[in-house]
Amino acid sequence: MTDLLLGQVIRFQGDPFDTLDAARTLSQGAVLVEDGRIVAVGEAATLRAMVPAAKVHDYGRALISAGFIDAHVHYPQTAIIASWGKQLIDWLNTYTFPEEMRFADRAYADEIAGRYLDLVLARGTTTVCSYATIHPESVDAIFNAARSRGMRVFAGKTCMDRNAPEGLRDTAQSAYDDSKHLLEAWHGVDRLSYVITPRFSPTSTPEQLAALGALWREYPDCLMQTHLSEQLDEIAWVKDLFPQSRDYLDTYEAQGLLGEGAVYGHAIHLTDRERSRLIEAGASLVHCPTSNTFIGSGLFDMGLARSLRVGLATDTGGGSSFSMLRTMAAAYEVAQLRGQSLHPSQLWWLATQGSARALRCEDKIGNIAPGMEADLVVIDLASTPAIAQAAARADDLWQALFPTIMMGDDRAVAQVWIGGKPLPPTT
Ligand code: GUN
Ligand code: ZN
Repeated sequence: MTDLLLGQVIRFQGDPFDTLDAARTLSQGAVLVEDGRIVAVGEAATLRAMVPAAKVHDYGRALISAGFIDAHVHYPQTAIIASWGKQLIDWLNTYTFPEEMRFADRAYADEIAGRYLDLVLARGTTTVCSYATIHPESVDAIFNAARSRGMRVFAGKTCMDRNAPEGLRDTAQSAYDDSKHLLEAWHGVDRLSYVITPRFSPTSTPEQLAALGALWREYPDCLMQTHLSEQLDEIAWVKDLFPQSRDYLDTYEAQGLLGEGAVYGHAIHLTDRERSRLIEAGASLVHCPTSNTFIGSGLFDMGLARSLRVGLATDTGGGSSFSMLRTMAAAYEVAQLRGQSLHPSQLWWLATQGSARALRCEDKIGNIAPGMEADLVVIDLASTPAIAQAAARADDLWQALFPTIMMGDDRAVAQVWIGGKPLPPTT
């Protein structure tokens, strides 16, 4: 089956943090999809004439983009999103850990995994990189749910062997064994990738970090994800727990948990040494702006996108939204508070190619180009009266798109394509 999607098309031929004209747009564009992949992109008239037998999906003035990639989420925190009144460590102890405890029940894990993926798909997110809980079955739950939806998903068992309640602790050895078993069972199956996942240094002993560092050396093509320098209290606690370490990053570096393929969430309060080591190592950072304002963490330095792979994420449920549109809006606001105005093309890039690069899968997803997997989102640029009246004044696509970035929600998502297939409409 060959499908031809018609609309305005946005794609990237470079990095808009290097050059602002990296984005390419077609106002009467077309994307040709066959066997789950994009085979051509170009002018609508040209592609229609080239493939007259293709099934046409005419989206009018709507925007056709690569699907959004949410590079740091905790799917088990779906039900505790928007929990009131706590900062990071209290928030973890009050809301997060009790909820994560419930994932010992496989049926509950299955229910939340399915609910979570349906919520994000309805918002145009086609790939996520998720933490599970310490329960191996919570990894099976998210991978099974992703597999049945045909989604490219990254996930790993969250490892914690201290400073977590009874019932949410593993050991250095069991974290290694369980992670290895899950990795061998799931990594590379269909569109699924296993991610080695120590939660963060406060909840792992140096022995556990070392065991996961050893596992990563055995499977260097896996990603390794964790949290880094999110809140000042957390950083002070790490200093107490690791008196011999030079800084927070060193707690990972010393145990083999720094390198290409390391994906650090937040990374707000970095020292000069940490910045230069991250750059030297070629690591990725993930900016989680709604979380950073909601939990009160601080303002990420987007200047780092010039020297590091930076992705964008909701950090559900520390973040206050499942929507990457809302997340782009928060990234814009956080940058404004640091005196920088991110261009709409930079925001869009962060949510697609930027996240793909952070997860080292930019050869597969995150852009519209021949050979890429056909995970697409179709965005209505006039989805509410408020957005429509602002967009009506636009002189170009960026002005037309910006009101949707700032005010858009799931109503802006006209259609989602996963692996070359349109999803049925959602409510
Ligand atoms: N640091 C360690 N665990 C978490 C978590 O679940 N959410 C956030 N935002 N930060 C963390
Ligand atoms: Zn997180």
